[in-house]
Amino acid sequence: MTGLLEPRAIGADLVRLDGHAKVTGTAPYAFEQPVENPAYLHPVQATIARGRVSAMQVAAARDMPGVLAVLTHENAPRLASTEDAELAVLQSAEVGFRGQFVGAVIAETPEIARHAASLVHVDYEEEPHDVSLSAGRVDLYAPEQVNPSFPTDTEQGDVEGAFAAAAVRVEETYTTAWVHNNPMEPHTTVALREGASLTLYDSTQGVHSVRTIVAPVLGLDPERVRVIAPHVGGGFGSKGVPHAHVVLAAMAAQVVAGRAVKFALTRQQMFSLVGYRTPTIQRVQLAADGDGRLTAIAHDVVEQTSRIKEFAEQTAEPTRHMYAAPNRRTTHRLAALDVPVPSWMRAPGDCPGMFGPEVAMDELATAAGIDPIELRVRNDPDTDPESGLPFSSRRLVECLREGARRFGWDGRSPAPRARREAGWLVGTGVASSVYPLYRMPGSAAHIRALSAGRYSVGIGAADIGTGTWTTLTQIAADALDVGVENIDLRIGDTELPNATVAGGSSGITSWGSAIVDAARTFRDKFGADPEEGDEADGSTPDNPDAERFAMYAFGAQFAEVHVREDTGEIRVPRMLGVFDAGRIINPRTARSQFLGGMTMGLSMALHEQSVLDPRFGHIVNHDFADYHIAANADVAAIDVHWLDGYDPHANPMGSKGIGEIGIVGTAAAVANAAYHATGIRVRDLPLTADKFLG
Ligand code: MOS
Repeated sequence: MTGLLEPRAIGADLVRLDGHAKVTGTAPYAFEQPVENPAYLHPVQATIARGRVSAMQVAAARDMPGVLAVLTHENAPRLASTEDAELAVLQSAEVGFRGQFVGAVIAETPEIARHAASLVHVDYEEEPHDVSLSAGRVDLYAPEQVNPSFPTDTEQGDVEGAFAAAAVRVEETYTTAWVHNNPMEPHTTVALREGASLTLYDSTQGVHSVRTIVAPVLGLDPERVRVIAPHVGGGFGSKGVPHAHVVLAAMAAQVVAGRAVKFALTRQQMFSLVGYRTPTIQRVQLAADGDGRLTAIAHDVVEQTSRIKEFAEQTAEPTRHMYAAPNRRTTHRLAALDVPVPSWMRAPGDCPGMFGPEVAMDELATAAGIDPIELRVRNDPDTDPESGLPFSSRRLVECLREGARRFGWDGRSPAPRARREAGWLVGTGVASSVYPLYRMPGSAAHIRALSAGRYSVGIGAADIGTGTWTTLTQIAADALDVGVENIDLRIGDTELPNATVAGGSSGITSWGSAIVDAARTFRDKFGADPEEGDEADGSTPDNPDAERFAMYAFGAQFAEVHVREDTGEIRVPRMLGVFDAGRIINPRTARSQFLGGMTMGLSMALHEQSVLDPRFGHIVNHDFADYHIAANADVAAIDVHWLDGYDPHANPMGSKGIGEIGIVGTAAAVANAAYHATGIRVRDLPLTADKFLG
């Protein structure tokens, strides 16, 4: 990559530019966008997991004062495309999963809409449903590819032969729970239809993605669809693509044309309508010689998708790039069930997919009598094991060594169950992290000179709480060689140049590169002293280095775990993450991303589990009373550190993406520390107390 930016504003500990508006409550989130005289929508959801609606009695709802309309599959506007079954809202009587939309009420107030929706009576022809994932199912199938477009299976050498001949081996099954994204701001769409024009105030990770996907479903000219999202209260992938509620809101807006319709999902509704992380069953085989050098690695994954639409989590993908071994195999098999559609959740694939292998590495270390850090160092590859390409930068060994120093790894007992403190068993554990550097093609940026040395910089990017408002301002300042106070950033609107989704930790790479390109074009055309109104465009350029290097962020996760000997209660008083993430644009917002990722990983390790009732096919604990996410009392000292430097090939900023790496490996580090504390190897997440009681 040529043309690295000289970091001046980049790297500065700048406070969030949107911080004041947020803490004073003046930053408009989707539901708060000022629209005149809005109507409100409340959905009716299926109470069976498979079958069809045979009759609906809507009179009681329709006749209620304040109700404007009741939508069912019989009277809802027809969509132009039903190709995406998740988005084919109210187009047929079929029910594909419990919780699917089967109707909706539009009313003068949210309370009337909700009450009226409860008065809609639905009769069903129920069919037997099938919602149980297991590795023994005979109908498991290999998808054509896994998310977003990786090969389903890979194989090199002779895994079984090497495994049989190995001095040391581990062969175990690891399982991760069904878990749900729960961003603070619920999914919300405010839709206003005027003639053939549609405006959506949407809580989304990408305004242009919403437009691109939703316009053809509704049969609208994309140019007449405007999507606005200046502030978003978290997404973690669940707002990375529009789900059915966006289509339902737009349909309702068509029915009450000229009047805006507000639709905010309830927390309970989110558990069936906005995606989730599939449970995984991971068979891992590791074989090594007497020195702990890996001779074979196999990772065979079974997971679920929805019968109505496929999503194939790339769970075995990270295994393809982590450690050197001549014989390697990865596979993915899916069960298509009568369940909601799974989707992205922070580090899809890499997050669950590093749990099995990184616990297996800990088991191999024990079996070989080698320190788990030393084992990882010995197996660190010189080139990407999958592609054979050199890494653009890979400082995993440095992360492990620096982490060991900071965490106090020296003197750690090689044997488990060696330390007791006042009734608590104490242990420490480590795991590696990896996350690919994605660059999405197709972002564009516009720069215009304002008065008094100021510049307007526009790009349809999203700030989902990550700090985009601040970091893109810093990048624009350096690209134009002015101070951050001279930049007037505009994001979150399809009126601005096209921007790719805030997903795959690709935002800064994709959008930042487009801004740098626009700034260089601008300076080439107008020099350092432009006239007011001078303007230039730019876009994310191709990066020829992307073909020549394997690009990943890396990290080392450390945890100290205390397990109560008599009750199995588990506590994590101390965690450390050391990351190789290239140049850090803003240490304040970056630290927050790493902390958030590690906290979410801790939450996955200890608490998060969406409990399915197979009799009805729904998630029982679909609220915050029963679905526990790590709270303050669960989170103690988390220390975040990153290696200084930059990636010379990634992008003009030298950054590698930080939104997701923090969650990868965390749960394995906690599980490994729990083993070290207790001598009990738990291979099933979450690590609840019962699993530590003999
Ligand atoms: Mo992230 S799960 O790619 O939004």
